[in-house]
Parts: sequence; C-alpha cells; structure tokens
Amino acid sequence: MRKADQIDNPIVAETISQWREVQKITSNAPIRKMADIFTEVYEKNIWRGKQEDGYAVLNPEAEYTLEYIELIKNFLKEKNIKQIVDLGCGNFSISRQFLLPQIRYTGVEVVPGLVDYLRVKYSNEEIRFECLDITENELPDGEVCLIKEVLQHFSNDEILGVLRKCKKYRYLIVTDAVPHPKKFPDLIINLDISHGPLTRYHFNSALFFDKPPFNIPKIELLAETDFIEEVIFKTYLMTIPENL
Ligand SMILES: C[S@@+](CC[C@H](N)C(=O)[O-])C[C@H]1O[C@@H](n2cnc3c(N)ncnc32)[C@H](O)[C@@H]1O
Repeated sequence: MRKADQIDNPIVAETISQWREVQKITSNAPIRKMADIFTEVYEKNIWRGKQEDGYAVLNPEAEYTLEYIELIKNFLKEKNIKQIVDLGCGNFSISRQFLLPQIRYTGVEVVPGLVDYLRVKYSNEEIRFECLDITENELPDGEVCLIKEVLQHFSNDEILGVLRKCKKYRYLIVTDAVPHPKKFPDLIINLDISHGPLTRYHFNSALFFDKPPFNIPKIELLAETDFIEEVIFKTYLMTIPENL
C-alpha cells in the first residue's frame, strides 16, 4: 500500500504559509507523541477554525454540523441512551448541542491544555473529560461511542487498534470526510498515512470501513452531506466483529 508521504501533490493547500506549517508538523509527526502534535495544531490554528478561547471550532455553522447535531440528538432519544463517550471531542462546541439532561457524557482528548480548559468550563456531575491517547490507552465505558473527524487523522493500523477497542460499545458512530467524487473521481481507498494534522482527504483518499484492511461487515450509512462542493461528510453506525 502506498504511503501518503510518497505523494507529491496533496490536493489542498489553503495558504502557502499555512501549508508550510502543516508540512513541518507532518514531516516529523510519525516520531512525535499525538499529544504534542495536536497541541501544536491547536496553538497554530492549523485547521483555521473559529477560535474559541484559543481552541478552534471546526465549521460550527456548516450544514453538515447542524445535521450531525440533529442526527445524534434523535439517535439518543430513539435509543434512550444514558451514557456517551466522545473520542477526540475537540472543544466540545458541537457535542454540547446534542446533550440532553440525564445523559452522562465523557469527552476524550489527547491535548492536555484543552482538557484542562474543558474541565474548568463545562465539567459537572454529568459531563466529564479525560485526557487520553485513544490509540494507546483503554477507553472509558459508555453505551454509545462517537468518533467525529478523528480516525481520518490516523494510520490504518492505529484505526484498527481503536476500532478493536470499540467492540465494548453498544453503538459506534463514526464521521469522516470523503473527497467529492464529482471533483475527485480517482479516489484512493484507505490510503495508509502517518498520523498528524492532515487527513486522507488531502491525498485524494478516504476511509471505506467495509474495505480492506478494515473489512467491517455491518455498517449503516446514517447521513451524508456535501460541504463546499469538495467534500462529503459521512456518518456511519457500525458493529465491530469479534474477529477484527
Ligand atoms: C478534527 S478534530 C475533531 C474534533 C471534534 N470531534 C469535532 O468534530 O469538532 C480531531 C480531534 O481529535 C483529537 N485527537 C487526535 N488524536 C487523538 C488521540 N490519539 N486521542 C484522543 N484525541 C485525539 C485532536 O486533538 C482533535 O481535537
């Protein structure tokens, strides 16, 4: 399988100076801890989101975000969920919009400063935050596990490791970006990349969990929404088989 590092022309470089910063972080990412990489990503606002107390919000008003919030809200009600785990919760600006009273929520983040900030600002009896590297540590308990725009930043082996740990959840809901097939017809399936600020999207690739090396047999597409005609955000409900 080709490595993303071997591809010369990633399809997105929003500004040259931003792209140089991204390349710097990406070039030594494989030998750095995830906590250090993503701390730097936030410090430099690499994802260029709307800053909220120093931590960028990703497309908070975009249609796909609003649809995601509605989707999760309805799912929680329909299944009468009482306990959620949100892996790679970011600044909690999205998840806090679908929380209902009486639901226990655990947000997991690898960036220590972000976790400190979230604890001070939002922790209460029902809402807590843990600082963990989900590729290395055991995951907290819950009924539903949400992983939104996180796996796409990991290598295929790291994704497999996280998915194996997610067998313990009753429901696993995963959201990631796929380059729009109209604009990028020669999509590479499950390109292996090194973990870091870039995603497969930047290399004309995307995650297809039903295809090798993941081969998840039970996947339901819950939602897909176009974003700026370049990318589709897809949300899946999946069941991880025992033999993964
Ligand atoms: C693109 S952001 C998505 C944030 C949030 N889920 C959202 O949709 O707004 C990816 C998040 O995953 C976190 N992250 C990256 N690697 C992680 C890891 N190994 N363990 C836990 N969190 C991680 C990053 O710090 C970042 O906040």
